[in-house]
Formats: sequence, structure tokens, C-alpha cells
Amino acid sequence: MKEIFARASIRSYQDRPVEKEKIEQLLRAAMAAPTAVDQRPWEFYVVENKEVLEKIAGASQYAWPAGNAPVAIVICYRTEGNRAPEMLDIDCAICTENIWLELTHLGLGGLMLGIAPLEERMKIVAEAMNLPDNLRPFTVIPFGYPKKEKERPDRYEPERVHWLS
Ligand SMILES: Cc1cc2nc3c(=O)[nH]c(=O)nc-3n(C[C@H](O)[C@H](O)[C@H](O)COP(=O)(O)O)c2cc1C
Repeated sequence: MKEIFARASIRSYQDRPVEKEKIEQLLRAAMAAPTAVDQRPWEFYVVENKEVLEKIAGASQYAWPAGNAPVAIVICYRTEGNRAPEMLDIDCAICTENIWLELTHLGLGGLMLGIAPLEERMKIVAEAMNLPDNLRPFTVIPFGYPKKEKERPDRYEPERVHWLS
């Protein structure tokens, strides 16, 4: 699938808004992701508010792309009522990759920011967004139209593959 090989972390964006239909398509891709016992533990926030994006950009020294982006999706998970709570991070990570690949497919660019499981970063994001107590932020995906194309390396390393035939 070409999107897997074209996907990149894009940190700079054109000064151009992203169409609502495309954002909805990203959310549709997100919710198509598999989850443990089909628990779908998520809530999605679409953040366009510049002030909130700036605050999120301060969540770590690596979170600055949020300050560049016209929009970000924040994937949160519910803290209660999950049948497989030990799988929450895995569920949200798979969901993140779905969004990332769909971004690529739509000609958009973005990346995931490392937020969970680091309590300090989660707290900054939760406070920036005024999240209710029953929701915790997993990651932030800032995105937009990429400023420039990114060359993709071939990362295939045959020596990492071990066949037990
Ligand atoms: C779990 C995870 C957390 C990441 N956190 C950040 C981050 O906080 N800030 C950032 O600029 N990039 C972040 N990245 C992007 C990685 O730096 C990037 O995926 C890696 O360098 C490979 O580059 P590529 O995505 O262009 O293939 C994160 C990626 C993953 C998978």
C-alpha cells in the first residue's frame, strides 16, 4: 500500500485551512481501527483554536509542531467503563496510525506527538483543552497541507528478519 511507504512526520504546514470533509474522513479512518474487545475507548477533539494549539505546543520540547499547524486531532480515552483497560494505549496507537495513513492518502501531512503515558505532558494537554476528569489525552496529531515534500528512505533491513522454517 503506497501510503505506508509515503507516510512521514510533517512538522511545517502551508497557511491554508483543511476542509471539514477531509477532517471528517480522518475521523472516519480513526474509528475504523480495531480495538480490544471492540471497546472503542476514544473521544476525538478537533482543535483549531490557536491559543489551545500554542498551549499544547508547550507540552514538551518536542511538541512545537502543534504551534505551526492549522488544526490538530487529539485522541483521548475514557478512564471508566473499559472492558480491557490494559489495552487502552495499544488501541489508541493503532487508531493514530490509521489517521496518519489517511492524512497521507488525502495529501495532508502531520505527525503524532508523544504525550501518553507521560503524566506531565498529559496534564499540560488536558489542562490546555479543559478536558473532563473522565478523559485522558493519548496523543495529539497536528496536521495541515505540507510545506514541502519529504524524501522517504527505504528502511527495509533484511538482517532484522529471522525465519524459523
Ligand atoms: C510514539 C511516537 C511519539 C512521537 N513523538 C513525537 C514528538 O513528540 N514530536 C515530534 O516532532 N515527533 C514525534 N514523533 C515522530 C518521530 O520522531 C518520527 O516518527 C520518527 O523520527 C521517524 O520519522 P518519520 O515519521 O518521518 O518516518 C513521534 C513518533 C512516535 C511513533
